[in-house]
Amino acid sequence: MIQDSIHLKAPGNWINDPNGFIYYNGEYHLFYQHFPYAPRWGTMHWGHAVSPDLVHWEHLGVALLPTKDYDRNGVFSGSALEIGGRLHLYYTAVQYEQPLREDIHLPDGDRFQASQAMVISPDGRHFDNWKDKRQIIPVLTDPDFGDKKDTRDPKVWREADGCRMVLGSSREGKGRVLFFRSDNGLSWTYANQFSAPELGRVLECPDLFPLEEGWLFLGSPMGVTADGLSYADQAMYARAHFDPDSCRLSLDGPMAFVDHGLDFYAPQSTLDREGRRVLIGWMRMPRPVEDAPDGRGPWNGMMSLPRLVTLREGHVCFPVHPDVAAAFDQPAEGLAPLAQHRPVRLRTTLREGEGLNLGGYRLRLREGRLEGDRSAVFAGLQNCRLTARTPRLTGDACRLDIFLDPNLIEVFVNDGAYVLSHIVYGLGTRLEGPVEAVSTI
Ligand code: FRU
Repeated sequence: MIQDSIHLKAPGNWINDPNGFIYYNGEYHLFYQHFPYAPRWGTMHWGHAVSPDLVHWEHLGVALLPTKDYDRNGVFSGSALEIGGRLHLYYTAVQYEQPLREDIHLPDGDRFQASQAMVISPDGRHFDNWKDKRQIIPVLTDPDFGDKKDTRDPKVWREADGCRMVLGSSREGKGRVLFFRSDNGLSWTYANQFSAPELGRVLECPDLFPLEEGWLFLGSPMGVTADGLSYADQAMYARAHFDPDSCRLSLDGPMAFVDHGLDFYAPQSTLDREGRRVLIGWMRMPRPVEDAPDGRGPWNGMMSLPRLVTLREGHVCFPVHPDVAAAFDQPAEGLAPLAQHRPVRLRTTLREGEGLNLGGYRLRLREGRLEGDRSAVFAGLQNCRLTARTPRLTGDACRLDIFLDPNLIEVFVNDGAYVLSHIVYGLGTRLEGPVEAVSTI
């Protein structure tokens, strides 16, 4: 089976969103949206990988696949919950009105319907896609309580008196979320809904969890950064108030980007082995990588590094997970390990006007903001964002903790106060600029 370290990548062909992220039976499970037949989006399956430590990942193949009439065109995103020792996986079941005649893996005219379904696995290793599936929320046909097409991505969690579910949805072109509750994780009833302009046209992949005294709401609204460039949609967050009894939600101000590189989408959180909130997102890639050294064939899509979600002086921070940082315990000669497909960690401090050139990728601190520029390492791809920058930083210097893989650079600024991650192609190994420490795994 295919192994990955540091970043979980498609085991070949296509992946998108992280799904069912959970620490269960002594290991981390990460499922993901997967099209097993080509390096492009198509009929969705759930691929499955496990890790003892969030650093080393072993791909276990396909866990969920279409087997029922209601999910015949796709097993869309969802989440996991342990109940009574068994692993419950909740997902969105998709049925096209009509597939395309010449490509049955796509709908004809974007017409489909969605219901919510689940699978119970006895051990997180075996999934009976014929016997152990059930539909739990039917297609929602009353527009007051849902949208027949755009209702998806159940995120489920436990409260003292039962379970809650938040679903992404839409109403007349405006994003909303729906709340359901359940005593046993099997039968679900509608509880409430919430809508706001920040939720875009459709809100995808919502997540909601307590953060110190309040709550944090995360979601991927479609259409909020519509500027004509590919991948306008972004993962965003806001501090929130939530009452688990009534399922009333309100946001505490405007939503902000989770990652300022703007390649990061559909993140999902869980609690790590020590009970800390950890978040992983999908890094979108505009074209496949063809030349994987391990024979996995062309692949498209990878996961970000796991990040903690913390609050520092009222500001939400996403520092790299400490177990991942600790894995970089071997000294390295500059970016040389990249040539052997090994990742590099690089730490430094930049002052105003200073910059780095990391194998063609440029970073600079200008007017108090960190700017990333991938124009020299993006393979001439058109219609994509080549530069990105953080909001204005505090202080006159910024501390950077940078993780490089041949196709991904993740920059943690001031211990995760901001993160800027960029997909790259054709990174070199020449390093220019002030660097304090370099290591590899
Ligand atoms: C987000 C998303 C989800 C959906 C899945 C389909 O990237 O569109 O809303 O469940 O991907 O692959």
